[in-house]
Amino acid sequence: MTDINKDNYSEQELKSMSNDELARLGTELDGVTVAYRKKRFPIENDPAEERAAIQLNVWLILSILSGIGFLAVYLFWPWEYKGHGDEGLWTYTFYTPLLGLLAGLTLLFLGVFIVQYVKRMIPEEVSVQRRHDGPSDEVDRRTMTALLNDAWQTSTLGRRKAMQGLLAGGAIVAGLVIIAPLGGMVKNPWKRGELGYEGDGTLWTSGWTLQEKGVKLYLGRDTGAVAEPHETATGQHYTTEGISRLVRMRPEDLDAQAMETVFPLAEEDVNDGDRYDPRKDVYEHHMHSIHGPRNAVMLIRMRSSDAARVIERKGQEDFHYGDFYAYSKICTHIGCPTSLYEAQTHRILCPCHQSQFDALQYGKPVFGPAARALPQLPITVDEEGYLVAKDNFAEPLGPAFWERES
Ligand code: FES
Repeated sequence: MTDINKDNYSEQELKSMSNDELARLGTELDGVTVAYRKKRFPIENDPAEERAAIQLNVWLILSILSGIGFLAVYLFWPWEYKGHGDEGLWTYTFYTPLLGLLAGLTLLFLGVFIVQYVKRMIPEEVSVQRRHDGPSDEVDRRTMTALLNDAWQTSTLGRRKAMQGLLAGGAIVAGLVIIAPLGGMVKNPWKRGELGYEGDGTLWTSGWTLQEKGVKLYLGRDTGAVAEPHETATGQHYTTEGISRLVRMRPEDLDAQAMETVFPLAEEDVNDGDRYDPRKDVYEHHMHSIHGPRNAVMLIRMRSSDAARVIERKGQEDFHYGDFYAYSKICTHIGCPTSLYEAQTHRILCPCHQSQFDALQYGKPVFGPAARALPQLPITVDEEGYLVAKDNFAEPLGPAFWERES
């Protein structure tokens, strides 16, 4: 601890002291011993100092330019999805990498400036301080302010107007680089979409919504087949060989007590059995269906004796086909995939927070944080005996966010 008594200093005395005196007093009161201190540029108007300042400004300018580049790409670069063979695919492909690169450079250049500034402008100093406890009193507060003033002056930043402006600009642009992308998440969930739904299609719809446009949708089984580019007489095609990624299913393809995840497969994208054609480029459509965030559906086949015990939800008594029940796989808690089906108890389990839904009672939650039933997809078989969606889901999928009756 210091031997100097702070009570010896009246407010009047403190006011009369210069900044240098207060700064020195502050270090003494804090028990700080400055063992070594050397200004980076002791001679005034040293050309080396000006060169260093210019180099430092260059880092700030680079940071600002990268930040402006990021904002320009974010606002004006074509970002809407392009598939294989579509015009503009390459431009679209660079959208995300460019955003990452420019955001990284903005922060990197700003970071380099800070490190370089400390190394080249702030006086070199070795100080030792002993620790003391308790809150700061008036003397401490004033002397600390004086020390900060001293740091501001000796760092030379106080008299470098160009650098101050660039630093403020760099900080603002770096802040925008972080904040601007959040703007893309601001959407009006009640806005009417093209299907007449409330919403912009992201929360209210899924691949199964196509059913309402008159598109016939099969319950597609994922074979896991991977596409390769193929040369045929009609040019290059990007398809799987022999078997397509999504294939139609018949009831006999699933054993009793089994569960399978299925995805919407549009009539025009069917490429299996006797309809297989290596020139049909449907792989990308299949992958869109598989990756659609609300598309996955659990198709459950119960034993007939169990199906006879099922309690249907009011108004949804004909949503199942025989012993087959199709529930959305997206948990109504916060949207994890409810991937586990326990055939003995007929419980559907969500691994995220352990919610359980009863397949014998229209997917009603019976344990855990989920409060609403899993939406059920109305299904049937078509004239060829393939499982198809009879209609769209009757309610929004996923987390129980709003406007659901159960
Ligand atoms: S997301 Fe399913 S229990 Fe939380």
